[in-house]
Amino acid sequence: MAGESGEAVKNKQVIFRDYVSGFPKESAMEVRESTMKLRLPEGSNGLLVKNLYLSCDPYMRTRMAKLDVPGYVDSFKPGSPITGYGVARVLESGHPNFKKGDLLWGFTGWEEYSLITAPETCFKIEHTDVPLSYYTGLLGMPGMTAYAGFFEVCSPKKGETVFISAASGAVGQLVGQFAKLFGCYVVGSAGSKEKVDLLKNKFGFDDAFNYKEELDLDAALKRYFPEGIDIYFENVGGKMLDAVLLNMKIHGRIAACGMISQYNLEQPEGVHNLMNLILKQVRMEGFLVFDYYHLYPKFLEMVLPQIKEGKIVYVEDIAKGLEDAPAALIGLFSGHNVGKQVVVVSQE
Ligand SMILES: NC(=O)c1ccc[n+]([C@@H]2O[C@H](COP(=O)([O-])OP(=O)(O)OC[C@H]3O[C@@H](n4cnc5c(N)ncnc54)[C@H](OP(=O)(O)O)[C@@H]3O)[C@@H](O)[C@H]2O)c1
Repeated sequence: MAGESGEAVKNKQVIFRDYVSGFPKESAMEVRESTMKLRLPEGSNGLLVKNLYLSCDPYMRTRMAKLDVPGYVDSFKPGSPITGYGVARVLESGHPNFKKGDLLWGFTGWEEYSLITAPETCFKIEHTDVPLSYYTGLLGMPGMTAYAGFFEVCSPKKGETVFISAASGAVGQLVGQFAKLFGCYVVGSAGSKEKVDLLKNKFGFDDAFNYKEELDLDAALKRYFPEGIDIYFENVGGKMLDAVLLNMKIHGRIAACGMISQYNLEQPEGVHNLMNLILKQVRMEGFLVFDYYHLYPKFLEMVLPQIKEGKIVYVEDIAKGLEDAPAALIGLFSGHNVGKQVVVVSQE
């Protein structure tokens, strides 16, 4: 645990330097040390927390630019710490839902100690017989994304064919396992041989391929789905989406979860085969996980027993310390991470 209440402690932070265009660099962030008084401001209904694990997520790239999307998250503030999902221990609470010593996951700062001013957006961690870092991934935002995206947006039926891009990542590895347990035929794409091996041998996908080795993505998809695709869980966009559109079955569904191939482009690539949505009566639906957080208790009820029974497994890529956090975040955009990218700040 941290020091006494009111004590001034050193607080290492990852500071966002300035807005970014194009492919982000580590130099967009800077690790600095400041000091912080371990005391809640008078009358605050916030939480003073010690951060334990931080989550690196692709959407954070969108926050490195000046954003103006109503209802979406804000841009990072130049000169202030990066903010994002993390797992933390409560040191002092001014909010009735939390008390000193509680563990939570939710929005916090990329620093050792944070003042959380919107505790109502945080989830109290009640189950600690699983690795705590899972609350940045499998049992946190990415897990809920996989669950809501697959079961709520894709409307799956047993026996259907499912294709997942960025399939070995934080979200994709879970979508594939949920789809297999549900009784679907599942194929994933990923960017290396190591990742393809994981998909086939650890996560139990029926098949997988390395998209970087396929000169013709349409031909590759026809090889794995000779009868077509019922469900596409979209994580990458761009050329892959265009190839998938040519291979959808009638009344297929596309859950537009993310389009990471477009995040660093100054000009989006554009999509050419959208007519297939009409010809094949395909439903393509974008979604944000925030709209589904009310399902979190139902999700936990399903997934906790599956973890304990070994039916769901999870691969994490752990960066050690805030010094390594900028590289870990940037690494998402070149596929450096194998599994969910986590940063350990403290293991207490
Ligand atoms: N809608 C929502 O609410 C929501 C919530 C969470 C996440 N998301 C989205 O879901 C997607 C997956 O997120 P995640 O957290 O699971 O990330 P992740 O898959 O763990 O990490 C990102 C992966 O994307 C792949 N990638 C990077 N650049 C690429 C490119 N140019 N073309 C193709 N693939 C590329 C890399 O894998 P390879 O080595 O396989 O290329 C990389 O490892 C992202 O698009 C993210 O924005 C959406």
